[in-house]
Amino acid sequence: MLEEALAEIRAAASLEALQEIKVRFLGKKGRLTQAFKAMKGLGPEERKARGQELNRIKQAIEQALAEREAEIKAAELEARLEREREDVSLPGLALAPGGYHVATQILDELVNVFRRMGYQAVTGPEAEDEFHNFDALNIPPHHPARDMWDTFWLEDGHLLRTHTSPMQVRYMEAHTPPFQIVVPGKVYRHEATDATHEAMFHQLEGLAVGEGITLAHLKGALLTMARALYGEEARVRLQPSFFPFVEPGVEFLVWWTNPRTGEGSWLELGGAGMVHPAVFKAADDAREKAGRPRVYENVTGFAFGLGVERIAMLRYGIPDIRYFYSNRLAFLRQFPRP
Ligand code: PHE
Repeated sequence: MLEEALAEIRAAASLEALQEIKVRFLGKKGRLTQAFKAMKGLGPEERKARGQELNRIKQAIEQALAEREAEIKAAELEARLEREREDVSLPGLALAPGGYHVATQILDELVNVFRRMGYQAVTGPEAEDEFHNFDALNIPPHHPARDMWDTFWLEDGHLLRTHTSPMQVRYMEAHTPPFQIVVPGKVYRHEATDATHEAMFHQLEGLAVGEGITLAHLKGALLTMARALYGEEARVRLQPSFFPFVEPGVEFLVWWTNPRTGEGSWLELGGAGMVHPAVFKAADDAREKAGRPRVYENVTGFAFGLGVERIAMLRYGIPDIRYFYSNRLAFLRQFPRP
């Protein structure tokens, strides 16, 4: 019986087969159990010898079962490790990294230039009210100057800001001069799009207010910016222009040399001027209404606003502003910066 059991145990290929063998030999009705029961009819001497023999067999079977069980378990583990093996030399899944949009890159660059001059960057709402976008900027209702900015009106009477200038007023309502700020952000124009016009684009607004601020300070700030963008050779030119919220008003041009062609030209970058007294008054009136003191009666200031995409278009030779926001990845990937 022992030889038989050991042979079967050795041949068992699974834990289930092993369990079946165990039941067949050691179970309640198993062969060994039957053999123990059959001892009843034996005499005392024989019974003792037979008992010892059966116990040895039982121990040998139990030991063989335990050893085989350990073997089978080890083999199963081995097989599983083989099956679920990780190939650590395989290349990983490359997630395409995102990057800053080219307009954001230029805006960051501009903001950093002004930070180095001591300006603080602040942002404001894109859904504006008529007061901040127009009235407080000395553009009353029905005034023809409103035609300068084709406006997206929202159903509740708000509008999408047509420029970043409303932040001039918002900032002055809440802060006391002297200060100098820049306002980066999106602006919206309700007009037909073409190679140089988009319904949404970016501006950088600047505002410096304090005692004794003059147009010369404006030119100095713009010149510092122009040199940071285009090198020490850069020059700035102010030309008379009109915006209701500045007096005098100018447009500013920057002399830059195109690194791709080596040619120089005057680049029209934006509008600027000295803050109009009507704007200071609107800010002070709003402050007074809110219970704050008037603080803009003995100061002057300059403001400027410039288009960001235009700088990128010239720098990189981008022929059409619509490329910026048509989500063409092949276009956007040309300006990598994580
Ligand atoms: N807000 C003007 C525009 O959108 C630019 C500007 C800003 C002009 C500040 C003067 C002063 O065109």
